[in-house]
Amino acid sequence: MASFADRGAAALRPLRERIAGRRFDRALGVRTSARDAAALACDADRYEPAAPDRLRRAAAALRPGPGDTVLDIGSGLGRAVFALARRGRMSAAIGFEKDPGLHVGALANLSAARPRLRCPDIRLFCADAARTPVPAEVTAVYLYNPIEGPEMEEVFARIRESLDRRPREMRIAYEYPVHGFGLVRLGFRRTAVAEALHLYTWPGAPAAASSSVSDPSTGPRSVGGPELNGEWGPDRAAGPGPVP
Ligand SMILES: C[S@@+](CC[C@H](N)C(=O)[O-])C[C@H]1O[C@@H](n2cnc3c(N)ncnc32)[C@H](O)[C@@H]1O
Repeated sequence: MASFADRGAAALRPLRERIAGRRFDRALGVRTSARDAAALACDADRYEPAAPDRLRRAAAALRPGPGDTVLDIGSGLGRAVFALARRGRMSAAIGFEKDPGLHVGALANLSAARPRLRCPDIRLFCADAARTPVPAEVTAVYLYNPIEGPEMEEVFARIRESLDRRPREMRIAYEYPVHGFGLVRLGFRRTAVAEALHLYTWPGAPAAASSSVSDPSTGPRSVGGPELNGEWGPDRAAGPGPVP
């Protein structure tokens, strides 16, 4: 049974995440909170930005490096794209967002944040991920609860088509992977878990760097994947190069 302290920490988590989100926004001069979305002409009900600590874990899992292009499916006001592009040495960061109102807000955010983002090539599209081909350059995907139900199977089909068109390494960091089984059915392997984040890798990917994941809330869990809790994983340039 969870202790009183654990229950207290869990109850405070949404507040801590909101405060960290506000700090993130101030640092980049952007507006990505749920409240910012509610002020726009958009379907704000579908939108919830990922908290900065989740995004640090996702970055550590995906380890984007030179030659990598990261795609955030359901990019909302752009927070995950900016978080990855802020410090990553990847070639490009792409966002697909279906809602036109959120997309317009994300473009305004991109103009404000661009000087503070390390990644030089950031592209935001107003696109339905269930119907839009995944660009052949994409090697890493972030999924934060974007879509429910059969539509998610369509998104997975677009990913698989892209891999068939151009075989390559791919990693998917999936928060709350309610449809994770769909990825396994496609042939992805689940290689690491930390809290609600699961990392899936396409079999072409090189072997993971280490063999355990230390999860601060539940203790170490051996899953045969990279360390997800570091601020940022080792630069992939130091490891095997991108698969052609
Ligand atoms: C939980 S939010 C995630 C926001 C963003 N990834 C982040 O972390 O800041 C999910 C987003 O997915 C978008 N979405 C839902 N269905 C979509 C689809 N078929 N194609 C693209 N985006 C979609 C929603 O409009 C919403 O902005």
